[in-house]
Amino acid sequence: MTILTETINGVARIEIARPEKKNALTVAMYQAMADAIAAANDDGQVRSLLIHGQKDIFTAGNDLEDFMKNPPAGLDAPVFRFMQALGYCEKPVVVAVNGAAVGIGTTMLMHSDLVYCADNAMFSMPFVSLGLCAEFASSVLVSMNAGYHKAVEKLLLADPISAEEALEMKIVNRILPPNEVLDYALRQAERFNKLPPASVRETKRLMKASWRPMVEKIIVEEAKSFSAMLRQPEAKEAFTAFYERRAPDFSKFS
Ligand code: COA
Repeated sequence: MTILTETINGVARIEIARPEKKNALTVAMYQAMADAIAAANDDGQVRSLLIHGQKDIFTAGNDLEDFMKNPPAGLDAPVFRFMQALGYCEKPVVVAVNGAAVGIGTTMLMHSDLVYCADNAMFSMPFVSLGLCAEFASSVLVSMNAGYHKAVEKLLLADPISAEEALEMKIVNRILPPNEVLDYALRQAERFNKLPPASVRETKRLMKASWRPMVEKIIVEEAKSFSAMLRQPEAKEAFTAFYERRAPDFSKFS
């Protein structure tokens, strides 16, 4: 099993557990995470969710091989079902990030509620350098959090983001030593056990209500472009280059 789920003391924990492939996310893993989030949302015993990886890796983002073999065919594809499940989750979602958080590993943070990261965390959104485009509403949410010009560096130039910069960009709440992140995130998640659940849910809903329609619209627009671009030669060149451990060559494209 590459997605482990367990509910203890009101917290539904979702662990991404495929460390031999740096927790790269396959279609099956997106489906499992979407199902786990939906189940936690419907479970009256659950007060909050906690998503995490291991001490040295959060996730390398989409599994590039799986994405090439099984590109999302429509908006009901598991990757988009995962986005919807997280985006619509009524309960607070806490995330603990150690190590690399690539692609959706970074964009999912902007749909989560509390994010704690290790000082060894490294975030990136390399969609353009993979011949793709922004996803999960990152084309608006990075600018909303960090300003347009910072977003250009991170989305168009795909510059990596250190833990300190992620804090400045307001995509994480706090930086901790690597061996303390998960425990701290768990304690924060457990704080919701002492709060009235309906008040927590309604306040979360209200906090996102004004920008939710815009986010929903842009996720669909991005998803259409992303799915089409996955099938283009630029993405094929980028993905092949990754497996051949070389820099991609985009010089022949116009
Ligand atoms: N999809 C599929 N496999 C991946 C992967 C991904 N996104 N990321 C890593 N892997 C695999 C590697 O192919 C390698 O497999 P192998 O041991 O069978 O050769 C294994 O995981 C270890 O990866 P490696 O690159 O050697 O680890 P690293 O510690 O040097 O670097 C990362 C870790 C995450 C920085 C690096 O793997 C990386 O940049 N991955 C690609 C991230 C990416 O572009 N994601 C897509 C975002 S849309």
